[in-house]
Amino acid sequence: MKATLRYLAGIAGPSGFGSNSTAEQVTQNCSSFLPSGLTALITGGTSGIGAETARVLAKRGVRIVIGARDLKKAMKVRDNIQKESPNAEVILLEIDLSSFCSVQRFCSDFLALDLPLNILINNAGVFSQDLEFSAEKIEMTFATNYLGHFLLTEMLLDKMIETSKKTDIQGRIINVSSVIHSWVKRHGFCFKDILNGKNYNGTRAYAQSKLANILHAKEIARQLKARKARVTMNAVHPGIVKTGIIKSHKGLITDSLFFIASKLLKSTSQGAATTCYVALSPKTEGVSGKYFTDCNESKCSRLANEESEAQKLWNNTHALIHKRLHQATNNM
Ligand SMILES: NC(=O)c1ccc[n+]([C@@H]2O[C@H](COP(=O)([O-])OP(=O)(O)OC[C@H]3O[C@@H](n4cnc5c(N)ncnc54)[C@H](OP(=O)(O)O)[C@@H]3O)[C@@H](O)[C@H]2O)c1
Repeated sequence: MKATLRYLAGIAGPSGFGSNSTAEQVTQNCSSFLPSGLTALITGGTSGIGAETARVLAKRGVRIVIGARDLKKAMKVRDNIQKESPNAEVILLEIDLSSFCSVQRFCSDFLALDLPLNILINNAGVFSQDLEFSAEKIEMTFATNYLGHFLLTEMLLDKMIETSKKTDIQGRIINVSSVIHSWVKRHGFCFKDILNGKNYNGTRAYAQSKLANILHAKEIARQLKARKARVTMNAVHPGIVKTGIIKSHKGLITDSLFFIASKLLKSTSQGAATTCYVALSPKTEGVSGKYFTDCNESKCSRLANEESEAQKLWNNTHALIHKRLHQATNNM
């Protein structure tokens, strides 16, 4: 109740920001202490929250690499950013997060540029009402929202650790999750069933992928701490924003709910605020394995907080991805 009132009134939390803070506001004072030459890689930067995140980080002087499956769309985003910030450096590289091969190709293209990597924002996401499968025959929502980002993070982790050592700047990884993760109960989170799309329901599949995003962030944060690496990893819920992903939730009930709830929706710039806050704020320096909403540390579900669940998911995912990559190499 208290949290709902705080959300509606936009009351600031301990960070000094709240539900109605925008990405520009939360990064306004960053430029004065921000190290120069930061590089951020963002997936799903072609629309919605990702495009706004890219715009605001670029405005703060961060070099942006956008991973996009549609390069024409990405070029428009780059043009808009450079119209506003003519000196912004925006690099576009192709990636389809639903495909392990595409993620691998993207990582070798990015690593070949020999750029530093300070910030990785795993933002791309899909919602699909109908059961679809990826090139590797895995349920599409889980493949895109979670598995693709798992492989991307794994392949770029050494680069981030190396950058943090060379530059003496802490690296930051952010998984864009959702409050909907809390809808998933333990009995509804079976790795094998999720991969196969058993008894598919679009909303459930989306929620499962978002729970996986938080467990992933927590497990990698734990591994990074054990390695004494100066890289953090956190998860965020951006708030409910009427972007492309929400427009895919068609139907009378959803439409009516959104009509009723339209006053509660955030603008895209408010939706990008939590990501930008965790990416740049000095207050989140050294904070790792946490979940943020409305630019403040927040509680995730009990299941999302379970270390054993996070480790089990990591083991299953790691084994699956490497088995599939091995098979792909053998079939070549
Ligand atoms: N909007 C909300 O209310 C809300 C609430 C909670 C969490 N989120 C999360 O916020 C993140 C951003 O979503 P959004 O609301 O900004 O939605 P959006 O406007 O639909 O943006 C989604 C982005 O993901 C990209 N994408 C989708 N599938 C991809 C693939 N296979 N490979 C590469 N990129 C792909 C899209 O690229 P294309 O331009 O090519 O389609 C687009 O850039 C998502 O992770 C979503 O789950 C959103």
